[in-house]
Amino acid sequence: MTNTRGALVVVGSGPGIGSHVARTFSTHAFERIILLSRDPSRLDKDAEFIRAKTPSADISTLPIDLSKTSDIPSALAQVDKALGDTPLEAVLFNAARVGPSTLVEWPIEELETDIRIKVTGCYAVAQWAIPKLLAVKDTHKPAFLCTSGSIYKDPIPEVFSLAACKAAQHNLVHSMHKKYKEEGVYCGLVAVGGVVADENPQCNAENIANKTWDLYEKRNDLEVEIVDP
Ligand SMILES: NC(=O)c1ccc[n+]([C@@H]2O[C@H](COP(=O)([O-])OP(=O)(O)OC[C@H]3O[C@@H](n4cnc5c(N)ncnc54)[C@H](OP(=O)(O)O)[C@@H]3O)[C@@H](O)[C@H]2O)c1
Repeated sequence: MTNTRGALVVVGSGPGIGSHVARTFSTHAFERIILLSRDPSRLDKDAEFIRAKTPSADISTLPIDLSKTSDIPSALAQVDKALGDTPLEAVLFNAARVGPSTLVEWPIEELETDIRIKVTGCYAVAQWAIPKLLAVKDTHKPAFLCTSGSIYKDPIPEVFSLAACKAAQHNLVHSMHKKYKEEGVYCGLVAVGGVVADENPQCNAENIANKTWDLYEKRNDLEVEIVDP
């Protein structure tokens, strides 16, 4: 096992959980970090946020729109270029379109968009990542992590589209957990059971990032669930 960390790729970076997880991993010697989402100027701010704590961090930002499934391979080819010789060691799949969806008024096309982002997108990233993670199992601590929510098991009807996608995504990552555990790649979920806000004692982005790091390090369970009292 090497002391040198590989790269962390965050798919769906943003000011909340995404950039906080990247910042936490940067303080644990993940110095190469690649952030992806749709808004390049916001990604620049995420990179600055990480550099403020870890000035030595080597951060790349790249565009991806997971709602456009056919564009995902070319976006991931850009990640390959950004990785260069650095092995991929960890992925956080964090992207989601969060918002209300009214039963049964929510258009089918919108449900399909949510499925493309959260389920097909997660699978596409896993297809790209898992072979790379398996390739470093003897030298690194490879992991595929996914941000989830307690709504995967206890849906809220007002956000049924998000909940249905989280259920499918959870099931997908559970399959990956079962299959790759013995093969040396940890696949796990961070289930956030409330709205993320700085004032929440548990469901704040920094605490979620610390819990994500603990899950990555300990890798005993399928998931960690984070809820406020
Ligand atoms: N916030 C909460 O209260 C809460 C609660 C429970 C669970 N969660 C889960 O936590 C995760 C997000 O964490 P967060 O809410 O703190 O957000 P965040 O990490 O601040 O940002 C997530 C990013 O995902 C990106 N994204 C959305 N649609 C995308 C698309 N089509 N393609 C690529 N990237 C896309 C957005 O960036 P762009 O718009 O620039 O693409 C957004 O900034 C999600 O899995 C969510 O379900 C959140």
